Amino acid sequence: MAITIKSEREIAIMRKAGKIVARVLAILAREVRPGLKTKELDVIAEREIRKLGGIPSFKGYRGYPASLCVSVNDEIVHGIPGDRVLVEGDIISLDLGAIYEGYQGDSAITVGVGNISLQARALIEATQGALKAGIDQARNKNRLGDISAAVQQYAESRGFSVVREYTGHGIGRQMHEEPLIPNFGIPGTGPVLKKGMTLAIEPMLNVGDWRTRICDNKWTVCTLDGSLSAHFEHTVAITDGEPEILTVE
Ligand code: MF3
Ligand code: CO
Repeated sequence: MAITIKSEREIAIMRKAGKIVARVLAILAREVRPGLKTKELDVIAEREIRKLGGIPSFKGYRGYPASLCVSVNDEIVHGIPGDRVLVEGDIISLDLGAIYEGYQGDSAITVGVGNISLQARALIEATQGALKAGIDQARNKNRLGDISAAVQQYAESRGFSVVREYTGHGIGRQMHEEPLIPNFGIPGTGPVLKKGMTLAIEPMLNVGDWRTRICDNKWTVCTLDGSLSAHFEHTVAITDGEPEILTVE
């Protein structure tokens, strides 16, 4: 299937899906503290999505057992919430998706648990900045490689590596649509971006090497070298002007 162009009506619905995801992530971020079990965040995530009229999109996706992904420290993405207890100094990535009237929103944030190291803080800021740099390239008539290259350039100029084996993606009725959106690439290459495309841009940055491995439970992706990793994601619509972030409150 090719990259789909959404109508104004479809984007209006995706705005609502995105708002649900953003609101619930904000609630979750406030709950994060030492002593909390990661599965407690999942319970809140599912309850709050449903309260706002949405459906958790991750639950049951290819057999994924939860509504939220919680990835701690060297875990990059797809951490399954469970009995792990958060401790001061951890960094945790919260990745959440919701469906509203048949359309998807997908977003992720990384937050610190209590006081975190300077390096962890720099990693989180660089990942957020890389997402912003990528989003700024999500413009009509740019190319996909402009987004990828901007993310990579921002991350590497700050001394961090970008994960290569997992990517962002188009999004709409399906969580994963074309195109794949790598976090590394060459400006001026790849498909031309057009008004009405909706993209989930999601840089994953590591302190050390970019390589990954699947750790326990067949889901959780970790850094191969055990270094810290952070992840931010927004669902974005391409307009004829400024990019519109859909996953905002
Ligand atoms: N937000 C993730 C993504 O963008 C999806 C999580 S995978 C799931 O691909 F299995 F948890 F759904
Ligand atoms: Co995603």
